[in-house]
Amino acid sequence: MTEILIRKAEKKDLLSIQRLLSTYFLDMEDLEPEDFVLAEREGKAIGCAALVRGTSGEKSFLELHSIAVHLNFRGKGIGTRLMQYLINTLEDQDTPDNPVCELYVRTTAPGFFEKLGFIKLPDADKLLLWSDCKDCEHFEKCTQHAMKYSRYS
Ligand SMILES: CC(C)(COP(=O)(O)OP(=O)(O)OC[C@H]1O[C@@H](n2cnc3c(N)ncnc32)[C@H](O)[C@@H]1OP(=O)(O)O)[C@@H](O)C(=O)NCCC(=O)NCCS
Repeated sequence: MTEILIRKAEKKDLLSIQRLLSTYFLDMEDLEPEDFVLAEREGKAIGCAALVRGTSGEKSFLELHSIAVHLNFRGKGIGTRLMQYLINTLEDQDTPDNPVCELYVRTTAPGFFEKLGFIKLPDADKLLLWSDCKDCEHFEKCTQHAMKYSRYS
C-alpha cells in the first residue's frame, strides 16, 4: 500500500479538512486547521482528527473532535493511526501527578474508541463536562456516547 503520512495540519490544509468533514456532514465549528492532524496519501488528505481543550467550570480537559477518514480508506487502520499519533503527543507531556493524558470524546462510533482503550462513561457525565449537552433539547434521545481514555486507569 502507498505510504500514508500522519502529520500536523497547517493553515493551507483548511479546504482539505473541510472537504473530508463535509462527507459526514461534520463541520469545523470553532476549530482552526492547526488543531488537526492529517493522514496524507500522495499529497492528498484522506483522514483528519482534532484535539481541543474544553472547560467544565474550573476544570479543563482534552477532547477529541471531528475524526473522519475518507470513505475509500475506511477500515485500513488510518483512524487508529491518527488516534495513536494524538495519544503519543499527549504522553510526551504526561506525568502521574498531572495526567494530561486523559482524553474525552462524544461519539456515535463507540466500538472504534473501545478498541483504542477508551471506556464508556454514564450519560450523566455529559452534563458535567459539556454545557451544550446541558442546554440540548435532544439530550434524552442523543446517540452520542461519552468516552474517556486515560493512561493510568
Ligand atoms: C470512525 C472512523 C474515524 C474510523 O476510522 P477507520 O480508519 O475506518 O478505523 P480503523 O481502520 O483504524 O479501525 C480500527 C478498528 O475499529 C473498528 N471500527 C472502525 N469504525 C468503527 C465504527 N464506526 N464502529 C465500530 N467499530 C469501528 C474497525 O472495524 C477496526 O476493528 P478491527 O481492529 O477489529 O479490525 C471512520 O470510520 C470514519 O471516518 N467514520 C465516519 C465519521 C465518524 O463516524 N466519525 C466519528 C464521530 S466521533
